[in-house]
Amino acid sequence: MCGIIGILGKQEAAPRLMDGLKRLEYRGYDSAGIATLVNGRIDRRRAEGKLDNLARVLEGEPLTGTAGIGHTRWATHGVPNEANAHPHATDHVAIVHNGIIENYQELRERVGDPSLFLSETDTEVVAHLVGAYLAQGLSPEEAVDCTLPLLEGAFAFVMIFAGHHDLMIGARRGSPLAIGYGEGEMFFGSDALALAPLTKRICYLEEGDWAVVRPDGATIRQLGEDGRSRPVERAVRETAVSGAMIGKGNYRHFMEKEIHEQPAVIGDTLHSYLNPAEGTLTLPGLPIDPAAVPKVTISACGTASYAGMVGKYWIEQLARLPTEVDIGSELRYRETPLPEGGLALFISQSGETMDTLEALRYAKRAGQTILSIVNVPESTIARESDAVLLTQAGPEIGVASTKAFTTQLTVLAALAMAFAKARGTLDRTREAALAAALAEVPGRAAEVLNHDAHIASIARAVADARDVFYMGRGTGYPIALEGALKLKEISYIHAEGYAAGEMKHGPIALIEEDVPVVMIAPSGPLFDKTASNVQEMVSRGGKVIFLSDAEGLTRMRTMAKPFAEIELPKVDPFVAPILYAIPIQLLAYHTAVLKGTDVDQPRNLAKSVTVE
Ligand code: AGP
Repeated sequence: MCGIIGILGKQEAAPRLMDGLKRLEYRGYDSAGIATLVNGRIDRRRAEGKLDNLARVLEGEPLTGTAGIGHTRWATHGVPNEANAHPHATDHVAIVHNGIIENYQELRERVGDPSLFLSETDTEVVAHLVGAYLAQGLSPEEAVDCTLPLLEGAFAFVMIFAGHHDLMIGARRGSPLAIGYGEGEMFFGSDALALAPLTKRICYLEEGDWAVVRPDGATIRQLGEDGRSRPVERAVRETAVSGAMIGKGNYRHFMEKEIHEQPAVIGDTLHSYLNPAEGTLTLPGLPIDPAAVPKVTISACGTASYAGMVGKYWIEQLARLPTEVDIGSELRYRETPLPEGGLALFISQSGETMDTLEALRYAKRAGQTILSIVNVPESTIARESDAVLLTQAGPEIGVASTKAFTTQLTVLAALAMAFAKARGTLDRTREAALAAALAEVPGRAAEVLNHDAHIASIARAVADARDVFYMGRGTGYPIALEGALKLKEISYIHAEGYAAGEMKHGPIALIEEDVPVVMIAPSGPLFDKTASNVQEMVSRGGKVIFLSDAEGLTRMRTMAKPFAEIELPKVDPFVAPILYAIPIQLLAYHTAVLKGTDVDQPRNLAKSVTVE
């Protein structure tokens, strides 16, 4: 999950490559590098760590040239250092790559001379393979055409060639890659975000495509199963992605800004699916009749999979429609039997997560109707789905997902209601009540944000902890899982989310003095059960941070004294998960700030995981 960019331009490439990499840094920040053609010769600059390190190198040793490629890395093969940083190059070709060449060891043997290899990466072997064909007198195009069928795994890569200032070649199999069409200039980029300041005219390469790009245009071919490439046409479209660099405003971190954007973006998302005045749903027509669907299979990864779990509870409870949730990386390899006429629902902020994408392709091969909930309209998952329900979260830059999660929940709530209506399990009165409860969420979310300072004061107790537990029942359980993930991701504190009822079957053995236990307990049918779990924790010295509404807090105080309380507005239990996500985000955020970690770019993570 690296970011790549390529420019065949009329201006100095280095500053434009660096600007593009700045927009791609959320994809990986282990190292970065650029290469340009200087008088037909390849020259490059690379640096370990954040892009700022590369910027400092370029200050000392600037790079000229109007053609070049750039890369920001998330390390898979080889430690994050300068030697393993991209671009990898020989005297004849330089390459930037996103993905994994699975048979690179074998290909290294094919290249022969191990002394040729200066890095531990899988990528470098591609430069040597192409270089070998060039040395046999083949043209760059022919050399790439011979090399592609040899590669196994996922890749998007871009190459420039010594002596060819008007040529770039890019290829895609698995990882996303787009071509940008400028005025006498051409570009490659991992996504529209990187290309937006350069051009609005973008063409997304499909599976197996590779493109020979010259200043006046691109020739695209697709590599077939038979190892032969054939010309293909791909649509060039106007992207809606803005080129404006997204700033933090007056916030310290993108994550903090994105948490505070939730009332607005939940409102924007609701606007697409609900008519609050009439209390009716306005979902676009779905390519399937929910009344005839035997089963829904939801698949996603990380935070998006927890949104899927809440969706499962809602769809089963409201629509009485059997629903299963499977993480992307398991569904495909478990060869899950999927029923005829089934619906498969994929959830993804980026729309590029490889595990989810491959699960989608598995479900498509199994004849399922493919529906996806994504935040990036032009993403691969959106393009490969039969229908798409967009979240209106806007660009999410912080690696830890926040507003994408609550807007995913908002879409799932509307979808569950639509299914129930179509299956006759939701009467008009209940529909109106749920619609009213949903319409209230943006305002309620703003109220929750007023507790920011109070939650920050509780974070100290979490920041000093070695282990932290999150618990909930019903739809509170996936929120507990999400709370634990948020804390792990950005504060590096070990945390676990549990179904509260599961504690007494083992994990309670870990509860002792000063172990924080974050309990998600909105008033409702499961409150009493959850409250008795709190008593169990408190009696063993657990430091319970209790999240409930005023009524719940009052009742809890009559049973046991939590270490801390976070009061939320009383809402219909149906919409509670959307609201209870916010204090757990804030708790993780303030804990990470206290720990001094890199909140927006936590170690070892990246925003969009485009490798399996
Ligand atoms: C969440 O904070 C993480 N960044 C990660 O778990 C993420 O949710 C997961 O990688 C899925 O990403 P997606 O929504 O872009 O598919």
